[in-house]
Formats: sequence, structure tokens, C-alpha cells
Amino acid sequence: MLGIVPHLAWIAVAAASSVDHWNALNSSVGGRLHVGIPLARPCFELADTAGSTDATQCEAIRNGWTNSLFLVDQFGAFMNTEWGSCQKTSQSCLIHGLNVSDPTPSDPPNVCEQGSVPPFYIDVQNASDVQAAFTFSKQTGVPLVVKNTGHDYKGRNSAPGSLALWTHNLQSISYNASFVPAGCPASNVKPGVTVGAGTIINDVVAFAEANNITVVTGAETTVGISGGWVMGGGHGALANTLGLGVDRVLEFKIVTPDGSFLTANECQNTDLFWALRGGGGGTFGVVLESTTLASPKMTLQVAFAAFSPNNTNATRGFYEVLAENSVRWAQQGFGGYIEPFQALYVTPVLNSSATADTMQPLFAYMESLAPTDPGVQVFATEIPSYGAFFETFIANSGAPVGENAVIASRLIPAANFANETSRASLVDALLQTLAHVTFDLTLIATTPFNVPDDGSTSVTEAWRTSIWHAVAEGGWDGAAPLVNETAAYTGISNAADFLRAITPDAAYQNEADVHEPNHEVSFWGTHYPRLLEIKQKYDPDNLLMCWHCVGYDPNSPRFSCYI
Ligand SMILES: Cc1cc2nc3c(=O)[nH]c(=O)nc-3n(C[C@H](O)[C@H](O)[C@H](O)COP(=O)(O)OP(=O)(O)OC[C@H]3O[C@@H](n4cnc5c(N)ncnc54)[C@H](O)[C@@H]3O)c2cc1C
Ligand SMILES: *[C@@H]1O[C@H](CO)[C@@H](O)[C@H](O)[C@H]1NC(C)=O
Ligand SMILES: *[C@@H]1O[C@H](CO)[C@@H](O)[C@H](O)[C@H]1NC(C)=O
Ligand SMILES: *[C@@H]1O[C@H](CO)[C@@H](O)[C@H](O)[C@H]1NC(C)=O
Ligand SMILES: *[C@@H]1O[C@H](CO)[C@@H](O)[C@H](O)[C@H]1NC(C)=O
Ligand SMILES: *[C@@H]1O[C@H](CO)[C@@H](O)[C@H](O)[C@H]1NC(C)=O
Ligand SMILES: *[C@@H]1O[C@H](CO)[C@@H](O)[C@H](O)[C@H]1NC(C)=O
Ligand SMILES: *[C@@H]1O[C@H](CO)[C@@H](O)[C@H](O)[C@H]1NC(C)=O
Ligand SMILES: *[C@@H]1O[C@H](CO)[C@@H](O)[C@H](O)[C@H]1NC(C)=O
Ligand SMILES: *[C@@H]1O[C@H](CO)[C@@H](O)[C@H](O)[C@H]1NC(C)=O
Ligand SMILES: *[C@@H]1O[C@H](CO)[C@@H](O)[C@H](O)[C@H]1NC(C)=O
Repeated sequence: MLGIVPHLAWIAVAAASSVDHWNALNSSVGGRLHVGIPLARPCFELADTAGSTDATQCEAIRNGWTNSLFLVDQFGAFMNTEWGSCQKTSQSCLIHGLNVSDPTPSDPPNVCEQGSVPPFYIDVQNASDVQAAFTFSKQTGVPLVVKNTGHDYKGRNSAPGSLALWTHNLQSISYNASFVPAGCPASNVKPGVTVGAGTIINDVVAFAEANNITVVTGAETTVGISGGWVMGGGHGALANTLGLGVDRVLEFKIVTPDGSFLTANECQNTDLFWALRGGGGGTFGVVLESTTLASPKMTLQVAFAAFSPNNTNATRGFYEVLAENSVRWAQQGFGGYIEPFQALYVTPVLNSSATADTMQPLFAYMESLAPTDPGVQVFATEIPSYGAFFETFIANSGAPVGENAVIASRLIPAANFANETSRASLVDALLQTLAHVTFDLTLIATTPFNVPDDGSTSVTEAWRTSIWHAVAEGGWDGAAPLVNETAAYTGISNAADFLRAITPDAAYQNEADVHEPNHEVSFWGTHYPRLLEIKQKYDPDNLLMCWHCVGYDPNSPRFSCYI
């Protein structure tokens, strides 16, 4: 058998593994074991990774570097590029996200380094692949990671010297108008869409549109709905009335670290089902597919208001209008995305005249700016489906990728909007946060405000009384020294502290501060102790572990690249 050629890239892997172990693993997964190569490798002349220099490939990589549709298909790509680097040692293989044609970072004497890119990965096709990986990790001590679309903000999809399970090629999607979760009585029938772990939102939205149904998805075209998104919560523009991803999921097919291939739903493996509905990805097993509730196609009302981004004087007044009206809008089913100079709202509940009425204070404020601001825009429109809304307003406005991004976030409860005093503190805190971010502050109005907590999910209860998930975002240059990286993390944490000071401990685990204080409470509210019991039941050897995940050990060597 043609074996693996020993290479510098995997000297870092655990001593207990040998070339024979890797070759045996490769046979047991049908030859689907591959070497993990940092995306920019072809651009570098000098490298201590596998792979080779290739000008044509390099050109394609430069062109695709900030395009998530390109990146999602590449194992060696991380949307937030620091997670392919070893931040602690500044070992990386990056080009400049803000100037992709700049050859300097890849020119000698710079060397392409493996960083945190897993040196090996399995292109997962079925349950046996995952079972083989668990057995291998238990035998050799090589750490496992699960990588799907590569969007994670906390590096839960990479680790130095690890074996990755790449679920990207689990591409499947089907609709059953009379889906019954396996093992449930026929009376549990519901319309369901079954989606492979790697299937991206673009494809889910198009599929739903073609089948005349509505599926709740996030806003990013290339996140999936069966991987980290749903296990961590899963918010989207319709979550206010239809629920988060965790509220709508009907069933998971999962391989747990003890090697079992299980179906988890409301009738079997119910403890696991509850844990997967908010306990987080990369923790309880490897999900191959999930089934989510389909709703009928629905007509939506959209409202949009904007002024010039450079008219920063207008931001305070804008935030004041939002603070005064957002509880009512939440009660009326609006979800939305708010930048410091614009708001996009959508609701399936109101009609067009009620939408115009309720948005009147926002539109009036914009009109007051119009005489001196040529950038003012307002409109309200009816749109025939979520697919049409996504295509028109969302698909082309994703958050940037191909850069080092750091975020910190907070769930902002209705109590902060209760009276003049609390609203004034909220507006002050938002402005302070905004003044301290290097990139952006987005107020994401995608909380499940009208979907009560029935005990079936393990996300923090705070989601359901919150109006916004506020996300502060910064970043740093790929070539920056460690001191600048550290400053980026402390800077974003400090920016969020203005909001932390006036809110309870609650944040969205998928879009959170890497150093979230009191993260067990912030992400899971009162649920952490039970989540930990379930983790210990299904993964007694801790074969799966990720940063700030249930049961993680911050001192594990797999976290040696965190700063
Ligand atoms: C540009 C951008 C836009 C975003 N927009 C939204 C949004 O609109 N709404 C929202 O809720 N979130 C959004 N997110 C956050 C998103 O939910 C997280 O990044 C999430 O972790 C992505 O999961 P993934 O599986 O796609 O990505 P990955 O980074 O590949 O995986 C993330 C985590 O999930 C685990 N995981 C992935 N697949 C599996 C699997 N099959 N089995 C077990 N564990 C798995 C991984 O181990 C890792 O811990 C956005 C992120 C980015 C970068
Ligand atoms: C997984 O795929 C391999 C072929 O690559 C096959 O031998 C094996 O039986 C499959 N396992 C399952 C559970 O389908
Ligand atoms: C695994 O086996 C396949 C088929 O034999 C081979 O093409 C591939 O290079 C092997 N993987 C590694 C990492 O050696
Ligand atoms: C991008 O890099 C090129 C090549 O180094 C340089 O000429 C150009 O000025 C840079 N552009 C910006 C906007 O920095
Ligand atoms: C839909 O699900 C039902 C109930 O499990 C099943 O009987 C039926 O065969 C499924 N239909 C399709 C097309 O898979
Ligand atoms: C699509 O679904 C809507 C809402 O259920 C229904 O009114 C309409 O008739 C359906 N259209 C088609 C072509 O099936
Ligand atoms: C904002 O930018 C626009 C267009 O570039 C310009 O016309 C306007 O004068 C600027 N306004 C302010 C307040 O700087
Ligand atoms: C913004 O406010 C400052 C201070 O109040 C004022 O001097 C400036 O003219 C204002 N700018 C605009 C564009 O309104
Ligand atoms: C729109 O909704 C409002 C409030 O529910 C209602 O009073 C009004 O009659 C509706 N208008 C139309 C045209 O249906
Ligand atoms: C304002 O609301 C906050 C939060 O709900 C509450 O603690 C406070 O007592 C209220 N203040 C007044 C003056 O009503
Ligand atoms: C690092 O931070 C220092 C001090 O803020 C700054 O002067 C320098 O430009 C930064 N370097 C990079 C590469 O961002």
C-alpha cells in the first residue's frame, strides 16, 4: 500500500500515532483521509507545510479570499482567518484580507506555516467515517475537531496537530410534508426538511422557495442549518415569530463519541436531543443531518430606513427612536438587522398599512434628517416569500470574511427599554460601545420574542425576553505582531463592557466574545449542570472538546494557540 509520507506538517501530532496508524485509518475510511493544507499555500515560495507553490491556484485563491462561496468549499480556509493561524506563536499562512493583491505577505522571507489548520482531515461521507475517527483518537490521543463551513468566531473548528472531521460534503436536502420523527407515534406528523450537515443556507432557501415552504435560516449564505448554527441556537430574520433553529429542529442523526449512530428526537434519546438544541456544536457528537420544521410560504412586510454612514451626528437620535419603539416592534413580529446608520425590518404578522403606521416614528426621524443628508432612504414594501426577501435584502450584504475578526456580544432584554431612564442608559451604552469598536456594532433583532420557553431547548432562557443580540466587531491585520492581536481581544471585550454593565449575563454562544466572562451562565442560563451530565454520558473520554464548549478543559494542549 502506498503509505503516508512523513512530513514536517504533522510532527506536531501526538507521539502515540505512527504512520501505520494513519494508514490504517485511511483504509478504514475508504481512502478519504487527506492532508490539511493552509489555503494560501500555493502563493508561498517558502513553506513548512505540505503542498506546493502554484501561480494559477494562487490567483484563484486571491480572487476568492473574501468570497465565502469560494472559501466554504476549501478545507484549508477559515472565514475568520485567525483560526487557521496559531495566534500564540504568530505562525500563519495568510495573505492580506484588505488587499488581496499585495504579494508582500507571501513573498520570501515569509514562510507558509501550518498554524492551527488540522494537518489531517477525513472527508466525512457516512457514519463509519466518524466511528473510525473516534476509535483512532481514543487509541492515539490525537485530538479531533469537527469542521463544517468554517464560520466559527471562536476557533471551535480548528486545533493544532488535530485530525478534523470535515462535514462539508454531506450535501443533501429533502422535504417530507408528513414527516414523523423516528419512533414517534404517527400523530406527531409535521412537515419537515431534512438537511445534510454541509448544506449551505443559499441552497436551503432556494429549496424552500421551490417547494413553496418557509424554513428559518440565518443571514449568511454559506452557513449551514444542520451544523454549529442550529446546535448553538440559530437565529434568523423570522426567529421572532417562528423560533430559533433549536425551536424548530425535529430530529438529528448523530454519531456519538462512544461510536453509536443515533437518532435523537422527542421520542428517543431525548436527553441528547435536548442537549443538541442549544448545548453547542462539536461537543456531543458529529451530526450527519437534521430535520427542521417547514412552515407554509408567507407574505412578509419589509421596512427599511437609512441615512448616510458618515452622518454620525444622527446616530444618537436614531438609537433613541429605536429604544422607544423596539419593544412594540418585537411584539409585532419584526426581526431585523440594524447598523449605526440603517435598519432593515421584516414581519410575517402585520399587513402593509399596519407596518407603515408602526414604523412612522422611524420614518419621521429619517425625514427630519433628509434636508441636510442626501443619503436618507425610507421605504416599506410587501414581499411574497422569505426566499424573495433573502434574495433581495440579505444575500449580498453578508458580514466580511477573509479577515481576522473578533467580536463580543450581548443579549439586550426588554427591561432595558422599559422607561426613560433605562432607555437613556441603553443609548449611552450603545454609543460608548460604538465609539470603542474598530469595525462595527450591529443590533440583531432576531430573538424568539414571541416563542415561549417550553423547556425543550438548552440555550439560555434570556433569548426569549431579549429584544436584540448586540454584536460589536473588530479585527486586526494578518501580519500584526502578537501585541496587536492581544489588543484586539481586550479592545472588543472592553467595548462590550458598556453593555455588560447594564444587562444580565447572557450572550449568543455562536457569536460571542472568545473570552466571555461567566460563559456557562451567559450561553446556557440555568442549563449548564444538566448539559454537563449529558456530555459525560455520551463522551466519557472527552474525545470532543472545543473552546467554551460544555465540559471543556482550558488547559488542554489543543487550546495552545489561543491568546
Ligand atoms: C459571516 C457570518 C455570518 C453569520 N451569520 C449568522 C446568522 O445569521 N445567524 C446565526 O445564528 N449565526 C450566524 N453566524 C454564526 C454561526 O452560527 C457560527 O459561526 C456557527 O458556529 C457556524 O457553524 P458551522 O457549522 O456553519 O461552522 P463551523 O465553523 O464549521 O463549525 C462551528 C462549530 O460547530 C461544530 N460543528 C459544525 N458542524 C458540526 C457537525 N456536523 N456535528 C457536530 N458539530 C459540528 C464545529 O465543531 C464547531 O464547534 C455567522 C457567522 C459568520 C462568520
Ligand atoms: C461508508 O462508506 C464506505 C465506503 O467508503 C462503506 O464501506 C461503508 O459501508 C459505509 N458505511 C455506512 C454506515 O454506510
Ligand atoms: C489515503 O488513501 C488514498 C487512496 O489510497 C490516497 O489517495 C490518499 O493520499 C491517502 N491519504 C493520505 C493522507 O495519505
Ligand atoms: C495593495 O497592495 C499593492 C501591492 O503591494 C499596493 O501597490 C497597493 O497600494 C495596495 N493597496 C492598498 C489600498 O493598500
Ligand atoms: C415521509 O415520512 C413518512 C413518515 O415517516 C413516511 O411514511 C414517508 O415514506 C415519508 N415520505 C417520503 C417521501 O420520504
Ligand atoms: C403555496 O403555499 C401557499 C401557502 O400555503 C398556498 O396558499 C399556495 O396555494 C401554494 N402555492 C402552490 C403553487 O402550491
Ligand atoms: C457624506 O458623504 C457624502 C457622499 O460622499 C457627502 O456628499 C457628504 O457631504 C458627506 N457628509 C458629511 C456629513 O460628511
Ligand atoms: C455634528 O455635530 C457637531 C457638534 O454638535 C457640529 O459641529 C457639526 O456641524 C455636526 N455635523 C453635521 C454634519 O451635522
Ligand atoms: C391591517 O391590520 C390592521 C391591524 O391589525 C387592521 O386594523 C386593518 O383592518 C388591516 N387592514 C387591511 C387592509 O387588512
Ligand atoms: C426603569 O426600568 C428599570 C428596568 O426595568 C427598573 O429597574 C427601574 O426601576 C425603572 N425606573 C423607573 C423610574 O420606572
Ligand atoms: C500594532 O499596534 C501599534 C500600536 O497601536 C500600531 O502602531 C501598529 O500600526 C500596529 N501594527 C499593525 C501591523 O497593525
